[in-house]
Amino acid sequence: MRTILVIGIGAGNPDHMTVEAIAALNRADVLFIPDKGAEKAGLRHLREAICRRFIRAPGYRTVAVPIPRRAEAGGDYRGVVDDWHARIAAAYRGLFEAELAEGETGALLVWGDPALYDSTLRVVERVAAAGLALDWQVHPGISSVQVLAARHRIPLNGIGAPVLLTTGRRLAQGFPADQDSVVVMLDGEQAFAKLDPAGLEIFWGAYLGMPDEILLSGPLAETAPLIAQVRAEARARHGWIMDTYLLRRRAVA
Ligand SMILES: C[S@@+](CC[C@H](N)C(=O)[O-])C[C@H]1O[C@@H](n2cnc3c(N)ncnc32)[C@H](O)[C@@H]1O
Repeated sequence: MRTILVIGIGAGNPDHMTVEAIAALNRADVLFIPDKGAEKAGLRHLREAICRRFIRAPGYRTVAVPIPRRAEAGGDYRGVVDDWHARIAAAYRGLFEAELAEGETGALLVWGDPALYDSTLRVVERVAAAGLALDWQVHPGISSVQVLAARHRIPLNGIGAPVLLTTGRRLAQGFPADQDSVVVMLDGEQAFAKLDPAGLEIFWGAYLGMPDEILLSGPLAETAPLIAQVRAEARARHGWIMDTYLLRRRAVA
């Protein structure tokens, strides 16, 4: 049996590694580092820096995992994602078999927390379901959502009220009528800028936890154009951007 440790590493700040995550890193024989190409090279370097800083034994082994690109979603989003996950699972299975002997332990370093908008757990389940004898454990990490709330010094939910976590793709269909607090991730299209801003405020953060962190907040009507401009400039400067935001009805505050 091979063991896989799925380790949440925080969303860009190595200081957000938990003691449990550090202990897990130190138990692994092999560290699998996803490689998503040049655009995301900075994120790969951060994983490598985490290994250098926290792994005590010298000579630990890292293996790059080339992550296949997802096809354009078109109308069949779920079908395209399913096909993409199948290809990632095949890549992982090949590497687990080639790089881990029976009884050895591998680690997957997952951005933020593995439970939030990350498919590593689905992919590992898939590898096991396809017949590779695997045990796996999950070590939670600090999510970008937690860093967003901490930096803006806000709770995410109103008193005794729910908070919805969703994607830019979903928000593009409109602000959910039955929600007051909505956290949005994976928004490449700036869906916030297309909403009716009346009564909404936004708490936005980019590169959260990183040296170039940017925070903006205020009534959506005035803040959305500023975010769009700052976001475009930052994206051009870095070549990539990751941003997350809370939208909330003003009455909730
Ligand atoms: C594939 S999801 C991974 C989320 C991750 N599992 C987490 O817990 O933060 C990527 C999205 O997370 C958000 N994100 C991740 N890291 C971020 C950061 N450092 N600053 C702002 N947003 C971030 C962005 O919305 C980005 O599009």
